[in-house]
Amino acid sequence: MSIKEELNIDKLPKHISIIMDGNGRWAKQQGKLRVFGHENGTKSVREITEACAELGIENLTLYASSTENWKRPKLEVQTLMRLLISSLKNEIKTLQENNIKLNTIGNTTDLPKKVQRELFDVIEQTKNNTRMTLNLALSYGSRDELLNTIKQISIKVKNNIISHEKIDESVINEHLYTRNLPDVDLLIRTSGEQRIINFLLWQIAYAELFFTDILWPDFTKNHLYEAILCYQNRERRFGKTSEQLK
Ligand code: IPE
Ligand code: IPE
Ligand code: MG
Repeated sequence: MSIKEELNIDKLPKHISIIMDGNGRWAKQQGKLRVFGHENGTKSVREITEACAELGIENLTLYASSTENWKRPKLEVQTLMRLLISSLKNEIKTLQENNIKLNTIGNTTDLPKKVQRELFDVIEQTKNNTRMTLNLALSYGSRDELLNTIKQISIKVKNNIISHEKIDESVINEHLYTRNLPDVDLLIRTSGEQRIINFLLWQIAYAELFFTDILWPDFTKNHLYEAILCYQNRERRFGKTSEQLK
């Protein structure tokens, strides 16, 4: 039986998020420039996006760049932006064929105008697609998102649009970049690093974490199935006891 056949289709995570890491090391292993790793990383993005849609995952969030990644060498940042534009141009067909809606989270106004225009175009063209939402986290930082949320809510309190007693988890959820998404069920990080690096801190409160040594350009459908299978074999108790779940 293939690993895919072992998956329980009735117990799929509703929201998978991935910290795609290891492009630079992958290139270095082959004596190539980091850029080569990023180019090959885009192939994994396509493969994993397609695999999630085929399986019936409703939401996939990919960490493509962080608020901290702007500190990288200028040439690398430029290459990442160039790759983003070409991927958006090339992948629109795949998104349409697979009925996938594109969405972004993060400080997208920090992105070069050309990238913003391309993003807006693909988001607009795919807005009625219903099979899966692909969220690209771009210039995303969780602390930045939470700060932004707190500011927006305080302004509403100040202007008597909402009273402070009414602030609860759902009010916070409604002000996050991820407002239309369910909590993350499964968070995957590739490349062997075991840290969260400012990614969806509020949304992963009850997520199952899966760390793998595979570098992102080597991450295939089968690795994804392995992660989901591992997720399905865990007991999610949400604070209850094992007995209560039975
Ligand atoms: C992740 O790979 C890709 C992005 C940040 C876009 P890295 O570039 O972080 O690769 P490593 O971690 O240096 O190998
Ligand atoms: C991982 O981030 C790649 C992203 C998807 C943002 P980094 O590779 O920049 O993270 P650290 O700081 O080295 O762990
Ligand atoms: Mg890295």
